[in-house]
Amino acid sequence: MSHIASIGTDLVTAARFLREGGVVAMPTETVYGLAANAFDERAVAKIFEAKQRPTFDPLIVHIDELSRLSQIAATIPEEYQPLMERFWPGPLTLIFQKTAMVSDLVTSGLPTVAVRMPAHPVARQLIAKADVPLAAPSANLFGRTSPTTADHVADQLAERIDYILDAGPCIVGVESTILRFAEGRFEVLRPGGVTQEELRDCVNQAIVQYDSLKYTDTKIDAPGQLKEHYSPQTPLVISADNAVLKPDRKTGLLRFSEATSPDLKPFEKVITLSETGNLLEATTRFFAAIHELDKLELDLIVATPFPNHGLGIALNDRLQRAAHRFV
Ligand code: TXA
Ligand code: MG
Repeated sequence: MSHIASIGTDLVTAARFLREGGVVAMPTETVYGLAANAFDERAVAKIFEAKQRPTFDPLIVHIDELSRLSQIAATIPEEYQPLMERFWPGPLTLIFQKTAMVSDLVTSGLPTVAVRMPAHPVARQLIAKADVPLAAPSANLFGRTSPTTADHVADQLAERIDYILDAGPCIVGVESTILRFAEGRFEVLRPGGVTQEELRDCVNQAIVQYDSLKYTDTKIDAPGQLKEHYSPQTPLVISADNAVLKPDRKTGLLRFSEATSPDLKPFEKVITLSETGNLLEATTRFFAAIHELDKLELDLIVATPFPNHGLGIALNDRLQRAAHRFV
């Protein structure tokens, strides 16, 4: 595609592109997604092409209402009922056995499919107008920082997609929590916008965290996330103090709160995600702050770790994957 996608608020145009087999960036409450008709294999292939995403990394299928679920999921485990009631629409993705209608390209050949019902009204209106479930990964180039505004999408993908549907900044700010029920237990495959505490309270049983040490660089054995992901182009390191600083490097600081502060003097630019240490506020601003620092032509970004509870677990997961191992 050699044209540049326009950014607009026209649902009818966006839905027309989708019905004609195109790819459209859509707002959700978590991050912007890059959407295509989940039942159209050629359209889904364009997602992988635009993102330069390896086809072993499966996509999430988005629905606007429960009546669409039976087209995608072969069975609906009763264990999911309280979760769907409480967190759909919202930032929770559930893993189901797939139907034959869902192409192997969407699921990377797995017998299962990831499904979520976004809370963003514009996302649901778009699905309703397109009248098909939409396969959508985050709308960034593979491995790079996730987009939380239409401009973030345009920076990376404008020349590769058909349309960018703009509905302002995303309010959750990190991707959905991915949860599966298998062999009698719940397992979080990716921490995200719904916390483990909230999940546990809802299902009244222990929630197992997928062992991220099993993640590899190139192959997803039990599908989850790749080790290096969400990366800015500027090298990023996680540190609670200034030990990593070198005087000849232009360095930016991404800190959680005013309380988590190394000495600020050596930094060219400091972004504080939440002055009062509010994890919800920090989550909303997290990816936008990384995009902002990444544009300043710094030599290094230092990020302070988050408290390891609630949304802090999802933020630490994103930071660890965004960090460059050799700086
Ligand atoms: O909030 C979100 O989830 C955003 C918005 C756009 O909805 N989407 C998103 O998609 O984060 P993406 O492609 O960045 O993450 C999809 C991940 C895959 O990397 C994989 O880990 C998991 O979902 N996944 C997809 N299908 C799966 C399956 N059948 N079994 C296990 N994990 C699966
Ligand atoms: Mg992603």
